[in-house]
Amino acid sequence: MDLSIIIPSFNERDNIVPIVERIHTALRDEPIRYEIWFVDDSTDDTVDVLSEMEAVDKQVHVYHRDSERGLASAVVAGFARARGEYLIVMDADLQHPPELLPEIYRNLAAGSDIVIPSRFVSGGSDGGLGPLRKLVSWVARVIGQLALRRLRKISDCTSGYFGVNRNVVDGAQLDPIGWKILIEVLVKGRYKTVHEIPYEFLARDAGESKMSMREQWNYFRHLFRLVSQSPADRRFFLFCAIGASGVVVNLVVLSILKYALRVPDTSASIIASLVAMLSNYIWNDQITWRASGQRKWNIKLPLFIGISLVGIALTTLVMDGFRAVGVAVPIGQVIGILVSTVWSYMMNNRLTWKD
Ligand code: GDD
Ligand code: MN
Repeated sequence: MDLSIIIPSFNERDNIVPIVERIHTALRDEPIRYEIWFVDDSTDDTVDVLSEMEAVDKQVHVYHRDSERGLASAVVAGFARARGEYLIVMDADLQHPPELLPEIYRNLAAGSDIVIPSRFVSGGSDGGLGPLRKLVSWVARVIGQLALRRLRKISDCTSGYFGVNRNVVDGAQLDPIGWKILIEVLVKGRYKTVHEIPYEFLARDAGESKMSMREQWNYFRHLFRLVSQSPADRRFFLFCAIGASGVVVNLVVLSILKYALRVPDTSASIIASLVAMLSNYIWNDQITWRASGQRKWNIKLPLFIGISLVGIALTTLVMDGFRAVGVAVPIGQVIGILVSTVWSYMMNNRLTWKD
């Protein structure tokens, strides 16, 4: 078997016959042996339509789940049943054009480990989403890319349409939450090359989207789990959490100095900041970069302090820049803090705790 097409379906009765027809038409002139696997969690009569289809079409297989739901876990169940050398995942609702299958297949056969039809490379479009979903989808992608480095170079990491060489997922411990199976594959799969090709994500003809607030929440749970399982991605979050703890240390020390010890305000403020910086240094040294860094503390500590001071200057600079174009000071300050956090993380990673 050359190719297995895996289609998660949930209450898609009117789309089953058209999608199978269009897949056959798209692959009619290709010398490819393929099968179609529906992994169905439907609660309506979609399963009857699927059973009829399975009875008359030898290339169609159906796995119906009664006790479980979830797009991503359905795809994992499909991976386990598929026999093809290459695996392509697509939605049942024809928003993912089957006409692209030969091109995805050709790229896989030519050696790309993962092939992603993308809405966001030149020639692609995501016309099938309304303006609000577009915004939500953009924010979700940016957050995913900030959190997980393996997503950074991928323009459409939340695509539901993609192909993989089966070696990418065979043996990988796939354990996704919710919808985004491609993110799970990109983070945990074994691969070298990813190729994106443009496509037009069209509007649905029949039925409606099953996207919900619950799935958005699941997306964050999923990202959180992936980050906590990956040492390199975890580091940045530890750094941020320790930075936040530094604010607490700063305020506690300030209060003690001012109210209990009657230290003058300016001195109290400076001492509190220095203590917080030292506390941040120790935590980062013991936790964030515990496993890395060959340098001695008398090199690391001054580097850390230098980077932190430049970070403060950077925050002010960014805030000032935004203020000049009319942005409120607290908002500019928050953006400044974000910029300087990313910057100081990168500098500490490259200099202070350099391997
Ligand atoms: N088995 C199963 N179980 N399938 C499901 C479930 C479920 O719980 N929930 C949804 N599906 C199926 C739908 O039947 C459809 O075939 C596919 O998953 C996608 O669901 P839609 O409801 O059509 O999602 P969408 O169009 O809003 O978003 C899709 O496209 C985006 C762009 O590629 C999803 O694939 C998104 O993840 C993707 O970003
Ligand atoms: Mn859809």
